[in-house]
Amino acid sequence: TFKLVIAGGGSTYTPGIVKSLLVQKDRFKLNELVLYDNNAERQEAVGVIVRHVVEMFDPELKLTLTTDPEVAMTDADFIFAQMRVGLYAMREQDEKIPLKYGVVGQETCGPGGLAYGLRTIYPMVELIDYCEKYAKPTYWIVNYSNPAAIVAKATFRLRPKARILNICDMPVAIERNMAEILECDRHDLEVDYFGLNHFGWFTKVRLNGEDVTEKLKSYVAEHGYMPQNAKSDVLHSDPSWLHTYANAKNICSAFHDYLPNTYMQYYLLGDEVVKSSDPNHTRANEVMEGREKRIFDAVADYRAGKDVDLTKFFGGVHGEFIVDVAMSLAFDLRKRYLVMVENNGAVENLPSDAMVEIPAYITDRGPEPVRVGEIPTFYKGLIEQQEAVEKLIVDAAVEHSYEKALMAFTLSKTVPSLLVAKKILDDMIVANKAYWPEL
Ligand code: G6P
Repeated sequence: TFKLVIAGGGSTYTPGIVKSLLVQKDRFKLNELVLYDNNAERQEAVGVIVRHVVEMFDPELKLTLTTDPEVAMTDADFIFAQMRVGLYAMREQDEKIPLKYGVVGQETCGPGGLAYGLRTIYPMVELIDYCEKYAKPTYWIVNYSNPAAIVAKATFRLRPKARILNICDMPVAIERNMAEILECDRHDLEVDYFGLNHFGWFTKVRLNGEDVTEKLKSYVAEHGYMPQNAKSDVLHSDPSWLHTYANAKNICSAFHDYLPNTYMQYYLLGDEVVKSSDPNHTRANEVMEGREKRIFDAVADYRAGKDVDLTKFFGGVHGEFIVDVAMSLAFDLRKRYLVMVENNGAVENLPSDAMVEIPAYITDRGPEPVRVGEIPTFYKGLIEQQEAVEKLIVDAAVEHSYEKALMAFTLSKTVPSLLVAKKILDDMIVANKAYWPEL
């Protein structure tokens, strides 16, 4: 039996993860589940829903809510990390500052992602150090914390021996849509893929062994990743997400090699994305007014004794995927998932220290990546540029270098010029005073 910690317990994604864990309770037995967060109030509120999940699925389970890293990590086997440093108020800045200068405003892509990266690198390193100190020597951190590409790069550089596996639910979410398009179960799909996190392509999709890539490509070139009868109860059902899924058609109809990750829109269609963005009302506002408000309102009602259905707040591929990955780590299932690993020659013509997102077999000793081989010039060029951006922002944090940060901002494909990069960076330094390492 395992002790499992959710670091970032106050996230509104936590109940979904807990439900996915507990439906597997006969195979993935927990002796204790810990929610750990530095924000006790938020965590207590989310904890109301989590208690409800526990009562429904595993009432005997010991559930602990704590803000103390020692209490949380002592003898932990698994740590699921999903911290959001600076919460939605800072996400709002990440999105709005670039938009002020006509540049893509996104939490993980472009300047917003770089800002978020500078906030997250050292808190993630701190989390690793707590695990090294208190957790079982065989601990595994499975990390969702964004921006995952930069987190992966920084943690690998600063704590190379850490038992951390960086993952992202976006490819799985796209696979869910592919499955809806093909009218099949997403578990029957197997994909080939290469890239960086939030920066990659599906090169092949197989349905029970049958190659369905061409079929999907022609569908996506016409409709994007929008299933004809999209289920409205999926996690990504807000209008902005539907727009994102639909927008993939503009990439797929231009470049016919592969199927893009939806995040490629920020790099390949940046001007279009900016045009359809409202600089005064971004995704952070949507989330604060939507998901966050719905959940915290429901908790308040529940606490006030009103009759509320808390079950609608736990579902989705996000929770399922992290549990699948953890089970493969725990039981050496050697399941094949897309994860972030050191390239090390897997993509032959990319730097060996790049943190690439590719398929890997997940064993109890960690991921065994598949060989991807060489990739064509266009994709290589794009990835090398983005990889250099991510390397530079980690350098900026480690070396306390304003110049390296400016290089990272300038090199981002989303930013048109050095002068714009500088304006955005300077605004961001002010906004992130409480969070960034000094530059
Ligand atoms: C997807 C991505 C995550 C990202 C999330 C944001 O799930 O894979 O990396 O954090 O979207 O979703 P939101 O609903 O908060 O905009």
